[in-house]
Amino acid sequence: FQPKLLQGKRVLVTAGPTYEAIDAVRGITNLSSGKMGYAVARAALEAGAEVTLISGPVCLEPPRAAKLVNVVSARDMLAAVKKEISRIDIFMSVAAVADYRAISTNKQKTKKTNDKVMLEFIPNPDILEHVATLPRPPFCVGFAAETENLEKNAEAKRRKKKLPLLAANLAQDAIGSDENTLTLFDDEGKNYLPRALKIEQARRLIKHIALLYEKQAEK
Ligand code: C5P
Repeated sequence: FQPKLLQGKRVLVTAGPTYEAIDAVRGITNLSSGKMGYAVARAALEAGAEVTLISGPVCLEPPRAAKLVNVVSARDMLAAVKKEISRIDIFMSVAAVADYRAISTNKQKTKKTNDKVMLEFIPNPDILEHVATLPRPPFCVGFAAETENLEKNAEAKRRKKKLPLLAANLAQDAIGSDENTLTLFDDEGKNYLPRALKIEQARRLIKHIALLYEKQAEK
């Protein structure tokens, strides 16, 4: 009997975009199909983990064996994460969280005029940074979608958010696609995962996480 890589581990995955309402019918969001996050949840289940999937609005079939929590905004997502986090071993933040939300929102549909409109936005909480800087954080894995300077931006993000592992891809290469190319950054350096189906990339990522997680547990 060979135990699975994440047997008995409790894994939390965020996936998809968040949507920040401006009025009853308008809002801002990020481009994200949720495919990578859902693939990561599937791969974690295959590896024997108990998986909670916190998902923004997407059009995907969720893996049946995961506990699914649907959310809309970044603040909803943070609240859902906070509810689960104390029991989690590994947190994988794959969601494309909207960085800003409107300062004021209208419950009704704002009437259109021919005038110029000014909207004010404030930054949303950084969910991953919140979790990674908890006194006793779970093993945290971040994702970064960049359009340029992938390595430099990815390493800067990993340091800022205090992450043991960050998976980076080019936005133009990944968004909406069934495939992507990933580069993993950790304390030991970087690992290149050549282009493959997202489910295959997710399986490779889970293998890497299991390795780092074991090493960390031995310390
Ligand atoms: O948006 P950014 O490139 O900083 O995202 C990097 C990582 O941080 C991703 O793993 C994303 O899920 C997470 N993040 C978050 N909350 C935010 C912004 C990003 O958890 N408000």
